[in-house]
Amino acid sequence: MGVAVRPPSWRLTAFWFLLALLPLPAWWGQAAPRAAGLALLGQGALYFGAGYLGSGRLGRGAVLPAALVLGGGQLALRAAWLGQPGLWWGTLLADLVAAWGGALLWRWRAAHYGADFHFDLIAPWYERLIHPQDPHRLLHVLHLAPEHRVLDVGGGTGRVAQFLKPARQVVVADLSVGMLRYARAKPGVQAAAALAEQLPFPDGVFNRVVMVDALHHVFRQAAAVQELWRVLAPGGRLVIEEPDLNLPLIKALAAGEKILLMRSHFLRPQQIAALLPPEAEVEIITAHGMADIVATK
Ligand SMILES: C[S@@+](CC[C@H](N)C(=O)[O-])C[C@H]1O[C@@H](n2cnc3c(N)ncnc32)[C@H](O)[C@@H]1O
Repeated sequence: MGVAVRPPSWRLTAFWFLLALLPLPAWWGQAAPRAAGLALLGQGALYFGAGYLGSGRLGRGAVLPAALVLGGGQLALRAAWLGQPGLWWGTLLADLVAAWGGALLWRWRAAHYGADFHFDLIAPWYERLIHPQDPHRLLHVLHLAPEHRVLDVGGGTGRVAQFLKPARQVVVADLSVGMLRYARAKPGVQAAAALAEQLPFPDGVFNRVVMVDALHHVFRQAAAVQELWRVLAPGGRLVIEEPDLNLPLIKALAAGEKILLMRSHFLRPQQIAALLPPEAEVEIITAHGMADIVATK
């Protein structure tokens, strides 16, 4: 089975970054070079803000506040540091256009190249923040055999997949090419840039399918679970591992992400099980704050 990671277009990213510098002349001649330094800082903030808007990791409710923070933040900087309290509407407009342009560009980039601003950004630090977990529990529920093909969907850097090597083939499918770069570097792990909701594999080709700590990030969860089930071979086993929303701590975490206007959406283990087709034999195993939804086809 040939799978590949398509490289993201960094030329395109650089091009947008230059576009984002367009409002710079509006700063020129005021208190340069301090003004230019501030402008660069502001444009950098615009760049990252726009990336977040474009990646869709923030909900729609966050778009207007974020655009206002981006444009307004620049104006506040100007007013406070450069002693120009008056609003400069041209700059504000340019900032908003740059933010929206950047957001659209990131969205386009994600659709064509496989990219996720949030996870591309945190990829280099991901495994330093979230250490590889003890694979014992997952291996126990998976019952892996050497002839198995395993798919880890939303598998990111291969943090989990690297322990699934008793299998013949281990493929990590993920939306973020940045995360996949680290997965691909792990011996025996193949990487595929793919959306969980639209997996590029034929029906029933994997003996084991896993999704760990990723379902709450997926936008169309029912479609994703259907896809996990579709690519699972008859007699195969699917394990979806998620933080256990029945626990108060996880409820607090989910509420915190809502307050931050993030679009992540946690489901209770029973709600995840209900997304599986009626013929699935489902068992829910909970331990250490996590819930494993184990389904046999
Ligand atoms: C918190 S990380 C978990 C990574 C890995 N499973 C682990 O436990 O280390 C969530 C991953 O889900 C991926 N992801 C989010 N939405 C996705 C989607 N719709 N399709 C594929 N991957 C997705 C992200 O890119 C990210 O790598």
